[in-house]
Amino acid sequence: MAKALIVFGSTTGNTESVAHVIAKAVAENKIEAKVKNVTSVSKSDFSAAYDVFILGSSTWGDDEIELQEDFAEFYETMDDLDLDGKKVAVFGCGDKSYEHFCGAVDAIEGKCKSLGADVVVSGLKIDGDPDDYADDVIDWANSVASSL
Ligand SMILES: Cc1cc2nc3c(=O)[nH]c(=O)nc-3n(C[C@H](O)[C@H](O)[C@H](O)COP(=O)(O)O)c2cc1C
Repeated sequence: MAKALIVFGSTTGNTESVAHVIAKAVAENKIEAKVKNVTSVSKSDFSAAYDVFILGSSTWGDDEIELQEDFAEFYETMDDLDLDGKKVAVFGCGDKSYEHFCGAVDAIEGKCKSLGADVVVSGLKIDGDPDDYADDVIDWANSVASSL
C-alpha cells in the first residue's frame, strides 16, 4: 500500500482541517496517510518510506510573504532534507484580499523544486473558509493519489 505523509502548519486551524480532509480523501484511494503538525516532524520523517509528501502552510504578513510561523521555522531547515526525486504536493489557506495570495504555497513549491523534488500537481490554494472548498480539496487529493 502506498503511503503519504501530510505535514501542516496552521495558526487558526484552517490548514490543519484541510490536512485532515486530504488524509481522508487519499485514504479512500487506498493510500495510507499520516498527518503531522510541522512542529513534530524531523529530518528522519523525510527519509522514511513515504511515496508522497503533502505539505501545507497558510500565508501571513502584509507587504511580504510570510509562511505560517511554525512552518517558517521548518522551512529554514529544509535544505537539510533529501527530497531529491521525491514526490511532493503543496497546499495552503489564505485570503485573496492580500497581495500575496497563498504565497507560502509558491514558496514551498519553489523550495521543493530547488531540492530536486517532483511536484506532482500544482499547489492547492484556498481562499477563505476551507469548508467552502471541500469538493476542490477532494478533487486535488484525488489528483495527488492518481500521480502515484
Ligand atoms: C495578519 C494577517 C495576514 C495575512 N496575510 C496573508 C497573506 O499575505 N496572503 C494570504 O493569502 N493570506 C493571508 N492571510 C490570511 C490567512 O492565511 C488565512 O486566514 C488562513 O486561512 C489562515 O490559515 P491557518 O488557520 O491554517 O493558519 C492573513 C491573515 C492575517 C490575519
